[in-house]
Amino acid sequence: MAAEPRHRFLCQVADIPLGGARALALGPESKLFAVRTADSVHVYRNRCPHAGFELNWLPDRFLDHSGRYIHCQTHGALFEIDSGICLAGPCPGARLERVAVLERGGKLYLALDAGAARREPLSP
Ligand code: FES
Repeated sequence: MAAEPRHRFLCQVADIPLGGARALALGPESKLFAVRTADSVHVYRNRCPHAGFELNWLPDRFLDHSGRYIHCQTHGALFEIDSGICLAGPCPGARLERVAVLERGGKLYLALDAGAARREPLSP
């Protein structure tokens, strides 16, 4: 009997702009987004902890104008990219829901078994 897959392909890491973000949809009920920094990719559920709305109004627009923070466009909350913690806006201290991912060979996978999630260096 074949083992169940423990991860699911999301996208090529290169398809996420460096210093930018990209929406990832697993289905209508499961919307995620990824932010790619110089040394990592952070994936969160696209749901603001303030009032539960999706963060973006425009496709792939998850960052503020400086590119340093994740921005909820409904009421203006700003979140730290690395931690998902709200630093300013109506829900300070609240967190975006992080999603466990694997990075292998330039590909990004959803880790279905969170215990298996680990990070590997991004390809140059
Ligand atoms: S729903 Fe995001 S700040 Fe209110």
